[in-house]
Amino acid sequence: MPPLSLRKLKAEIDAHRAKLAEQSAAVGDSKALEELRNQFLGRKRGAVTLLFEELKSVKPAEKPAAGQMINALKNEIRETLAALEARVKASAPAAREIDLTLPGVSPYLGAAHPLRLFEREIESIFLSMGFSIEDGPEIETDYYNFEALNFPPNHPARDDWDTLYITDQLLLRTHTSPVQIRVMEKKKPPIRIIIPGKVFRHETPDPTHLPMFFQVEGLVVGEGVTFAHLKGTLEHFLRRLFGERVRIRFRPSFFPFTEPSAEVDIECLACGAKDPGCRICSGTGWKEILGSGMVDPQVFKNVNIDPERYSGWAFGMGIDRTAMLAFGISDMRHFFENDLRFLRQFALK
Ligand code: PHE
Repeated sequence: MPPLSLRKLKAEIDAHRAKLAEQSAAVGDSKALEELRNQFLGRKRGAVTLLFEELKSVKPAEKPAAGQMINALKNEIRETLAALEARVKASAPAAREIDLTLPGVSPYLGAAHPLRLFEREIESIFLSMGFSIEDGPEIETDYYNFEALNFPPNHPARDDWDTLYITDQLLLRTHTSPVQIRVMEKKKPPIRIIIPGKVFRHETPDPTHLPMFFQVEGLVVGEGVTFAHLKGTLEHFLRRLFGERVRIRFRPSFFPFTEPSAEVDIECLACGAKDPGCRICSGTGWKEILGSGMVDPQVFKNVNIDPERYSGWAFGMGIDRTAMLAFGISDMRHFFENDLRFLRQFALK
């Protein structure tokens, strides 16, 4: 083998130098850096090792110069690798110290709608008094919504309900009272139920009216049930909902399916019964939240329950309106605008 000339060796070294410059520019992480280190400084097959092997075939007189050239390259490689290592470390995400005792980051899971939260509150109070929960259809027949509840056809009391009719005989229920009939047709006394659900009326939305809202109906039927039970139960319920000291009043009223009937008002919690211009109570200081009364004997006859033996009472309360007072909200329409800034205020923590 002819001896290896210094020129040829220098050309090889220059080629390695160019390769190093080119490849080091592409190094982005520590794995690529290690590969590069191996390629140039690897003990067995690294470029520098191979060059030192070639040194054997350099003329003895030229060996020192050749050795210096190779060593110079080796130092350049080392410097380049050190600079690369610093660059890779700086760009890698800072090694984090992980504190395992920190609580995890919990994702936002959403929450029940405030009306649903309020409905659950109502349900839990009645469940604790031994009531159970029933429901019924939102599309009703004229019979259940009106007739069985003692509104004969053309009775003027029907005008109090701004009904959304589908056909002459089918309508969106105007109240949850038709479910009273459906339940009494199937179950015999004693009955102690509540019926939460959606109802619909032909109303123009304003702060206290909506065309769709929620009611909760209550019905108690048994032997010896009196108006005192109605009053005691509703007072207890409202005090649990609004606090012991809330002012409540029963006002005589009329419903075709109860006799006698009463509406219940609570003090206006929006203005504290103090603002003559209050949009919620119109300055009266009171807000009607429910209708109630003793089940009319005619209603019992319509479902084959003997009115001589059984008596009962019922109520129907507007959930949205009551929630508005309980939460101190000035406009019922907020409940349905789906503004998350509003809704999130009611999330259970
Ligand atoms: N259904 C009546 C309403 O919507 C309320 C009510 C229910 C009254 C039960 C008396 C008894 O206004």
